[in-house]
Amino acid sequence: MVKLRNQYELKLMRDSGKIAAAALKRAIEGVKVGVREIDVDKVAEKTIYKLGGDLSYKTVPNYPFATCITVNDRVVHGLPTERQFVKEDIVSIDLAVKFKGWHTDCAWSVLLGKDPKKQVFLKVGEKALWDGIEKAVDGNTVGDISNAIQSRVERAGLSVVRSLVGHGIGKNLHEDPEIPGYGPKGAGIRLKSGMTLAIEVIYTNGKGDVVLDEDGWTFKTADGSLGGLFEMTVIVGKKEAEVLTDWRKV
Ligand code: MF3
Ligand code: CO
Repeated sequence: MVKLRNQYELKLMRDSGKIAAAALKRAIEGVKVGVREIDVDKVAEKTIYKLGGDLSYKTVPNYPFATCITVNDRVVHGLPTERQFVKEDIVSIDLAVKFKGWHTDCAWSVLLGKDPKKQVFLKVGEKALWDGIEKAVDGNTVGDISNAIQSRVERAGLSVVRSLVGHGIGKNLHEDPEIPGYGPKGAGIRLKSGMTLAIEVIYTNGKGDVVLDEDGWTFKTADGSLGGLFEMTVIVGKKEAEVLTDWRKV
């Protein structure tokens, strides 16, 4: 069942989203050559607590961090390690907040350098995210979001990771519906204003297959290609989706 949120619940989700956006912004600012993944995780954790939030990922059994951090061929669910960032790394930070019982989830990928091919790679993922978000309006379906993401990614010669998907979000980090980054327009359930969704673009510059790392959490590309990750929590709107976790607006 996909829930519609009332105004009171939406207010709490907005507050949760503001904390997540601030934490993502601080984390992104902390990504520098020589800094360790675990240091960035701590920056995010501190920001979330300082703003009165709690770690949504604590609700994932056995997951001990505030964030997932995935570099280069790592795609999602990366355990923050002691590894230091180096020049030309692509660094993806994924974090979620729980505030007064309400979850919001967001992720962003940044480049520690100027490689033009990597810059284009990231720009496509970001555009695919906004394309998907644009479709999160009354009367559209989940497939309209999926198809918008897939079109943008594949037109650029990149691949969507099909085994990992976006999701509904609210009282729990992961709720119905699943929101794949691929599929036909018009497929899936019809969207209604007041639904809250975590729309995710999970993609690579190779084939879209991923394998689980020995650490039991991190998904890496099977072919060693680069992974990118862009995610925002939104409220489905009548004419326009409302983005709750836009770190650029903090
Ligand atoms: N943001 C991630 C997602 O929606 C959640 C990561 S769960 C963790 O898939 F346990 F890996 F942190
Ligand atoms: Co998510």
